[in-house]
Amino acid sequence: MATHSLFLLPGDGIGTEIMVEVEKLIDWTNSEQLTDFSTDSGLAGGAAYDKHQVAITGEDTEKAKAADAVIFGAVGGPKWDNVPYEHRPEAALLRLRKELAVFANLRPAICYPALADASSLKRELVEGLDILIVRELTGGVYFGEPKTITDLENGQKRAIDTQVYETYEIDRIARVAFDLARTRKNKVHSADKKNVMKSGVLWDEVVKGVGKDYADVELHHILADNAAMQLVRNPKQFDVMVTDNLFGDILSDVAAMLTGSLGMLPSASLGAPDPITGKRKAFYEPVHGSAPDIAGKGIANPIAMIASVAMALRYSFNMIELATRIENAISAVLSDGLRTGDIAQDNRKTVGTEEMGAAILAKLKQ
Ligand code: NAD
Ligand code: IPM
Ligand code: MN
Repeated sequence: MATHSLFLLPGDGIGTEIMVEVEKLIDWTNSEQLTDFSTDSGLAGGAAYDKHQVAITGEDTEKAKAADAVIFGAVGGPKWDNVPYEHRPEAALLRLRKELAVFANLRPAICYPALADASSLKRELVEGLDILIVRELTGGVYFGEPKTITDLENGQKRAIDTQVYETYEIDRIARVAFDLARTRKNKVHSADKKNVMKSGVLWDEVVKGVGKDYADVELHHILADNAAMQLVRNPKQFDVMVTDNLFGDILSDVAAMLTGSLGMLPSASLGAPDPITGKRKAFYEPVHGSAPDIAGKGIANPIAMIASVAMALRYSFNMIELATRIENAISAVLSDGLRTGDIAQDNRKTVGTEEMGAAILAKLKQ
């Protein structure tokens, strides 16, 4: 078996706690010869700032680029509220996304049967829910220039962020969404604000153009504010939703709560396939952040992180069977009634990060 390389970036807060469970999982799959991963790890976010005064070093960025897949925990926290803006922990994430050019961020929101009552919505609205948000990740207002705060002569300040999209950026993310829709229910909703934004007008025009190549896929346009409302009103009307960087960030946090908790949502960020090798750069991370409010307590839900590893197995290594086995192990543990605090129901006893990770591993071993 060829050796596959993983670069682990635990980051800050609960990022480090949930990465421990990933390491245990990989140790086991390697020992069973289900995988042959070589791993290396680096510092990102506040952890890197404390040591190197930058959110991520050039060296670790190069290691991330060279790896077959990057597994990222989470970054950020109040400790770094006052560091220079360009070195804030979140800058690590933005640099990696941009330098790896992982433009396609897949954020699946699946409501596991055992968690239908953990959602803040009624069971009948979320039971069986399986939607996929396809978020554009390397463009839009996150990266557009100018991006400045300037002092005005009248003593006030002016802040500018710039939303920029070019045709090719919309075209390629739309194709990812349509291709994925073909493996699912052949339905895409494209969310933008074409009623107020020029970038929305272009977004809609390009997506509709791409849609002509996918006549078998139903395409619906939806304004992003309505999409947020519809996700809460009747989420099961959606299958694949494609949207820009900022709307995708917000809509995926909304979708997370449909599944019970932000601690449940994994993600995969993929680049374009290399024209010669066919390999694509890939970055896997939970959708949630470093959760400073619960960091250090050992109570974070590791499921989003572990499910992100399952996505890596599926999308980077074509190990579909093992990925499915991990997802089934998560489902089985939840069906057994195990809950971390964020998905607790009925006042039942909750477990910590380590116990949840161990229970998933025990299911895998069965
Ligand atoms: P957050 O996602 O860290 O937390 C939001 C809420 O969800 C908190 O109450 C937290 O306790 C809970 N939560 C999140 N993940 C959980 C888990 N696995 N188990 C149990 N509960 C969980 O968002 P925030 O509080 O807005 O941001 C905190 C910091 O994280 C900020 O610095 C932010 O920029 C950063 N952040 C980083 C990433 C990332 O690294 N990918 C993503 C989002 C936010
Ligand atoms: C996410 C996060 C990041 C984003 C932050 C931490 C930069 O919220 O991955 O959802 O806004 O993309
Ligand atoms: Mn977010």
